[in-house]
Amino acid sequence: MDTAQFISKSNNNSVEKASFTWQTPSNIALVKYWGKSNPQIPKNASISFTLNNCHTITTIDFEKKRNSDENLKQVQIDKKVDFDLFFEGKQKDAFKPKIAEFFTRIQEYCPYIFDYKMTINSENSFPHSSGIASSASGLSAIAMCLMSLESELNPDLSAEEINKKASFLARLGSGSASRSIEGPMVVWGNHPEIAGSSDLYGVQFPYKLHSVFENYQDAILLVDKGEKQVSSTVGHNLMHEHPYAESRFTQANDNLGKMSEILQNGDIKAFVNLVESEALTLHAMMMTSNPYFILMKPNTLEIINKIWEYRNENDSNICFTLDAGANVHVLYPENEKEKVNHFIENVLSIYCQKNHYIYDSVGLGANKM
Ligand code: PMV
Repeated sequence: MDTAQFISKSNNNSVEKASFTWQTPSNIALVKYWGKSNPQIPKNASISFTLNNCHTITTIDFEKKRNSDENLKQVQIDKKVDFDLFFEGKQKDAFKPKIAEFFTRIQEYCPYIFDYKMTINSENSFPHSSGIASSASGLSAIAMCLMSLESELNPDLSAEEINKKASFLARLGSGSASRSIEGPMVVWGNHPEIAGSSDLYGVQFPYKLHSVFENYQDAILLVDKGEKQVSSTVGHNLMHEHPYAESRFTQANDNLGKMSEILQNGDIKAFVNLVESEALTLHAMMMTSNPYFILMKPNTLEIINKIWEYRNENDSNICFTLDAGANVHVLYPENEKEKVNHFIENVLSIYCQKNHYIYDSVGLGANKM
C-alpha cells in the first residue's frame, strides 16, 4: 500500500510558534466497521453520516524547541513527543497515554512533531462520558491541527492533500476517526463500487445523494452513560478468532454496495431495513465472540420495540442504529422531524438516563475556527 505519499516532505518554511483551532465532528456508521488488521486496516469497508452538532473543538499551540545542540541530542535520545493535554480547561493526564501512542504511530509521517512543544486544549459539545464515542472527533481534530502546521511548513500542500492526510493520520488513532474529516457521507475501506475508496483514509461518498437523505436527522438517545464494559479495541480483536468473521466481512462489503445504490435511488424502505440489520449484526458479532459480551441494555431493547411499533402504526420511515454501546441513534428524514421529535420527547425519552437525548443531523465535516 502506498503509504510513502504521506511522509511529510522536508520543510520549506520555518515556523517558530503557531496555534490552530479546529472543530471536527463525530460520525455514525450505517454499514459498520468491526474487525481490523495492523496498522488499523479495516477488514471491510464502511460508510457513515457525518454529524453536525456532536463535535470536538481542539486548539494546539506549537512552540518550537530551542535548537541548541544539547537540546537536539536530548530529543534524539528521548524520541518522545513533548505535549501537555487539557480537557475542558483541566489538565488531563489520564488521556495522555492514548494520545502519546497516537503520536508514536504517526511520527514516521509527521517527524516535525519532535521539533515542537505542543499544548493541546480540547472540549466536546456533548457531555463527557455520555457514552458517545469521542475518539472519532477527538483524533480528527488533532489530525487537522497537525495538518495546519504541516501546511505552514509546506505551503505547496493542496486542500485535498490536507484532508486526505488528516484522515490517514486520524485513522491511525481510531479507525472511525478517518470518517470524521469530511461530510455529509464518508466511505472508509477499499470497495470495488466506490470510486477512489481506500483502506488508508476516508473519502466523501462520490455519487449524488438522493434528496431524501439531505439533512437527515439523528437523535441520540443516551441510554447508558457509563464506561463501556468492553472497549472497541478488545471487540475488534475478538473478530480474529470469530467463527462468523469471514462471512460478516463479505456481508458488510455486499451491504455497502447495496447502500451505495440506496443512497442514490432514495429507496428509503430499503435504507431502513439495511441500517437496522447492520446495527443488529454488529451486536450479534459481539454476542457470538468468545468471550461473548452484550453492550445493549434493557432500555436499548425497549426503545427498539417502541420504534418498530411507531413505524408500523404511523407508516413512518424512522429507524435506529447502534454503535459499540447501549445508546440508540434514531434516524429519520427531515419531513418527519416534527412528529418524530414529539414521539421522542413523549415516549422514548423516559428510557434515557436522566431523560437525556441529543438532536443532531447530517453535517459537512471539519471547520477551521
Ligand atoms: O473506531 P473504533 O475503533 O472505535 O471502532 C468503531 C466501531 C463502530 O463504531 C462500532 C462501527 C463504526 O464503523 O463506526
